[in-house]
Amino acid sequence: MKAYVYTGHGGPEVEALADVPRPEPGPGQLLVAVDAAGVNPADWKRRTGTMRTPDSPAEDFPLLFGREAAGLVAAVGPGVGGFAVGDAVFGSSDGGGFSEFALLVADITAHRPPGLSATDASTLPVAGATAYDGIRQLALPPGATVLITGVGGGVGVAAAQIARHQGVTVIGTASAGKKAFVESLGGIHVEYGPGVADRIRAAAPQGIDGIYDQVGGQALEEVAPLLADRSKLVSAGDRAIVARLGGAFVARARDQATLDTLAQLVISGALNPYVSHMFTLDQAAEALRLVEEGHVRGKVVIEVTR
Ligand SMILES: NC(=O)c1ccc[n+]([C@@H]2O[C@H](COP(=O)([O-])OP(=O)(O)OC[C@H]3O[C@@H](n4cnc5c(N)ncnc54)[C@H](OP(=O)(O)O)[C@@H]3O)[C@@H](O)[C@H]2O)c1
Repeated sequence: MKAYVYTGHGGPEVEALADVPRPEPGPGQLLVAVDAAGVNPADWKRRTGTMRTPDSPAEDFPLLFGREAAGLVAAVGPGVGGFAVGDAVFGSSDGGGFSEFALLVADITAHRPPGLSATDASTLPVAGATAYDGIRQLALPPGATVLITGVGGGVGVAAAQIARHQGVTVIGTASAGKKAFVESLGGIHVEYGPGVADRIRAAAPQGIDGIYDQVGGQALEEVAPLLADRSKLVSAGDRAIVARLGGAFVARARDQATLDTLAQLVISGALNPYVSHMFTLDQAAEALRLVEEGHVRGKVVIEVTR
């Protein structure tokens, strides 16, 4: 099968479109003929090798790009119940998606209901579910105010809409060009950069009740002092700094129930993943470069035709 792979750790020079053997599903896995795959920062970060820890298992290159996909079940692994060949599904992969076929983790895969496109579904296992998990972790009541840093990207766009759906006021930091976009999500736009904390104070005179950070680093350090109760500080982007600031990294549920809930939110109109760019498998390099530049609007998706 055709797959976009990386042949070692490094920059874009280790990427290649390759012919690789079609995998066989093992226990707990589904083989899926891919229709669409979401593109995420984790794809290029894994390629660099910087996400690895001393406990990470050895890697056997070439490795397939992709952490999430939507498609049709082509084979069911031993011991997996609830799925049959031909079912339309979407779910998480441990590597694969920018490929004609991908192995999905059955426990983090759900049926794709009518009314949910494969394109939108392919964005839910990573960005959508991370958004949902972080907003749930903050557990803010209706009427509270959440600050979402990096609100214009894949996780932030979904988090803003999920929070608004729960009656929470959203303040979002983004570049100046995303003002109208953030407002279309029901959020209050604040441009990031020097003086951001003062601009947030002005935008939220009632104060901030929680922060869901998508950026980390200095962007997180600048806004954390706005929050007295650090139990309401959650980051998806920076495990080390959020811990140092007394907050928590997002706790991922990674389950079918979350995917089912997200599917219903999309169908009801409460959640639009805002797929801004679609690429073919042959254009996977362009898709990755766009995400790697770090200023995506909503989601980037690779559509796979067989
Ligand atoms: N832990 C997990 O399970 C998990 C899952 C998914 C994602 N993540 C991580 O969460 C983070 C966000 O993911 P994503 O998919 O939403 O990324 P993304 O789609 O690339 O979005 C990032 C957004 O941040 C904005 N941005 C860049 N610099 C900024 C700054 N200084 N202040 C505010 N906004 C800034 C960018 O656009 P503008 O500059 O144009 O505003 C962009 O919209 C990444 O670090 C990703 O690796 C973690």
